[in-house]
Amino acid sequence: MLRMLRMLRMFRLAVNSYNSISSTFCLALILFLFAINVSASPEVFSHLDNEPIIPIPPIPSDIDPELVQLGKKLFREPRLSANNTIACINCHVLSIGGVDGTAVSIGINGKKGKRNAPSVFNSSLHSKWFWDGSAKSLEEQIGGPIHNPVEMGSDWPEVIKKLSNDPEYVKDFLKLYDSAITKDNITHAISTFERTLLTPDSPFDRYLKGDITAIDKDTADGYRLFKSYGCASCHQGALVGGNMFEKIGIAKPFDWGSQNDKNLIPDYGRFHISGEDEHKFEFKVPSLRNVELTAPYFHNGTVKTLEEAVKLMGEYQLGRHIPDKDVVKIVLFLRALTGQHPELNQ
Ligand code: HEC
Ligand code: HEC
Repeated sequence: MLRMLRMLRMFRLAVNSYNSISSTFCLALILFLFAINVSASPEVFSHLDNEPIIPIPPIPSDIDPELVQLGKKLFREPRLSANNTIACINCHVLSIGGVDGTAVSIGINGKKGKRNAPSVFNSSLHSKWFWDGSAKSLEEQIGGPIHNPVEMGSDWPEVIKKLSNDPEYVKDFLKLYDSAITKDNITHAISTFERTLLTPDSPFDRYLKGDITAIDKDTADGYRLFKSYGCASCHQGALVGGNMFEKIGIAKPFDWGSQNDKNLIPDYGRFHISGEDEHKFEFKVPSLRNVELTAPYFHNGTVKTLEEAVKLMGEYQLGRHIPDKDVVKIVLFLRALTGQHPELNQ
């Protein structure tokens, strides 16, 4: 099959050059290529360069394990919040895909946020963070929840004071850093831990790398449909998303809930950062890695199932009705994007 595909590509190449080179030469070329191809030993899938999606890289092995441990400890540290009740892990539960499973996150004193928590898995592969892209680095992102009054409601001086009163932490930090506990050291340790939260080796990535038995025929069909409907024009790269901002509601205005609640204030996404009208309802295209574990969906968590998300994408983003039989296959493909990490889905 692979060999046939490759032959076809070579044939197309040869036909393209038909106008400039004589047909006899072309024929000789095809025969020559055929001979090379027949004699070539089986090799790894060579189509990787032509695919819109690339595999998740392996978990880095060259990071100081003690630093990772400190970052992990801080990720689980409720003293990062004003009343010592909320840690990062409350909203990014590693065993359920790095999310909290609720429509919008619940922070300090039961306060409700406005947005759905994206996963912390593979978050180091993004180039902008938050739904509106307002954080420019993984380190900058960490200050967001710490200061957010409906998440952790604290600030750096308070966090540094609390951790500095704990001799354990002072010892941990002095061992790894020249100076004691600072904002930069805390964000460095947490972001280092986050860089280890990669989920390589999903069935789909194994398929991309050449193991054509890693997914079944319906799942492979789902991938073909994902590309042919145009999903990959926005969801692509290693994250299957995450590398562009797009308006939700390109083909049809997005219903953000105003029909049920006239007092609801819409979340305009990037508009809140730029103030530019054209950015209204623009959000970071979410990564679809491990998406079967990260329900509910969309920036406001209003979409409960993957099937519904796929249908709505057809309707709002592509102006197309996707029949159920195609939805089922696309969802199979999406489920094949679940990768591996010791703490994921345990
Ligand atoms: C109360 C729940 C809550 C807490 C606590 C919390 N987060 Fe989040 N996290 C969210 C929500 C909600 C978002 C999306 C916010 C937005 O886009 O405006 C988010 C976004 C993120 C992102 C960006 C993901 C992306 O794809 O852009 C990362 C990374 C992250 N959080 C890590 C952390 C870390 C590290 C901590 C601890 C310092 C933390 N979070 C604490 C709820 C929380
Ligand atoms: C024009 C760009 C674009 C196209 C095309 C597109 N999407 Fe999306 N997709 C988005 C954006 C933007 C969101 C976030 C919507 C929101 O949060 O309100 C999203 C959200 C999703 C989600 C929910 C993920 C989550 O974690 O919340 C899924 C699943 C999804 N898309 C799958 C698809 C599929 C399948 C197709 C093809 C049928 C598709 N998308 C086509 C831009 C696009």
